Amino acid sequence: PTAATTGDITADEPATLPTDRRTGCPFDPPAALTALSDQPLRRMRYADGHLGRLVTGHAAARAILADPRFSSRYELLHLPEPIAGLSGEMPPAPVGDIIGLDAPEHTRYRRLLTGKFTVRRMRQLTERVEQFTTECLDAMEQAGPTADLVAAFAQPVPALMICELLGVPYADREHFQSQVATLFDQTADAEAKGEAYTALFQFLGALVLAKRAEPTDDLLSDLTTSDLTDEELAGIGGLLLAAGLDTTANMLGLGTFALLSNPDQLDALRADPDLAGQTVEELLRYLSVADPLLRSALEDVEVEGRLIRAGETVTVSVQAANRDPHRFPAPDRLDIHRRATGHLAFGHGAHQCLGQQLARVEMTVAFPALFARFPTLRLAVPPQEVELRDRSNIYGVVSLPVTWDKE
Ligand code: HEM
Repeated sequence: PTAATTGDITADEPATLPTDRRTGCPFDPPAALTALSDQPLRRMRYADGHLGRLVTGHAAARAILADPRFSSRYELLHLPEPIAGLSGEMPPAPVGDIIGLDAPEHTRYRRLLTGKFTVRRMRQLTERVEQFTTECLDAMEQAGPTADLVAAFAQPVPALMICELLGVPYADREHFQSQVATLFDQTADAEAKGEAYTALFQFLGALVLAKRAEPTDDLLSDLTTSDLTDEELAGIGGLLLAAGLDTTANMLGLGTFALLSNPDQLDALRADPDLAGQTVEELLRYLSVADPLLRSALEDVEVEGRLIRAGETVTVSVQAANRDPHRFPAPDRLDIHRRATGHLAFGHGAHQCLGQQLARVEMTVAFPALFARFPTLRLAVPPQEVELRDRSNIYGVVSLPVTWDKE
């Protein structure tokens, strides 16, 4: 019997996680990752020498993310790439960072939070995103006809929305935007990340006290009526800020770049703005900006006939899973007419993105509004000169110089 038929993959030559996207299309996964698509679950060597797994297949990724025998606790994880200044194990999740918790602790927080993303709140936020998108486009048009789309549009829209959600004054955004950027920056060392986290936590701690003293109509004020401590509230606030800022901003920036690079798809969206919803799903699948997701096996688990041993870290490559040809035919084509539902861009299972409704609303409003306002929008530099965020946990463009014809 071969290794594949016995489920024994110890015979595989371990791969390291491919991260180099520079040689190919900026929207595609690294070529070395795509080359593994016939090995949906294989051995992988981690930064500290640990031998764990790499998952590139959609079915295996989905099964692992849905399975409580795979833990999200940071202290159990080995990292694919080292963080400078961090020797040994990852520290456990700081208070309120529910991404690094398992049931039952995770479930308690998650229930509380899910109940606060109400239909009424989402409707309010939709109205605000419509207003604010218009304001941003007005400002961009007046200052134009050139702009950095990231600074003028892709960053401010999600920043305002997360401020509205939490009840953070928008004028305070400088206080947290650079801290959030440091948290996701793979070139930042452990000390810089620690300082950024502390600053963010202190900022939110002060805000929690203000909301307790004088509640306003926002999620953070709502949460002060729960049994959560000030420390828990500040931690949760910090997580929501961090999780909601860069992710959506990069989807808007990179998504615009992708649409401008695929004019037939952009024309189809312009001709029928009702396609906005499915365009957003397809962009989420195609770009998979939040990647990879890590888990640790709590016991021996068989996935698709292959054994993952207790203690092994599993790297779930969302971008590879979302380009799995068995799940999405012609996966490397951006096709806004396809049914992209079932993609894993928001994760899957217990930790599936809590802010996905909000992110969808933001993108479904923002993309059509941008392209309607500027019918001649185009890149102001050759595409190969667009600087990519390839050293960040959230992929995207650093800036996107665009131009348009003045009416
Ligand atoms: C979790 C992606 C926007 C809040 C996640 C996860 C992914 C993700 C992949 C799963 C992490 C894991 O399983 O380890 C994205 C993308 C977004 C986006 C691609 C934008 C397009 C947002 C927004 C918010 C948010 C706007 C806040 C309002 C969260 C939170 C979690 C999470 C709190 C943790 C949930 C838990 O652990 O139970 N997100 N996200 N996200 N996201 Fe998002």
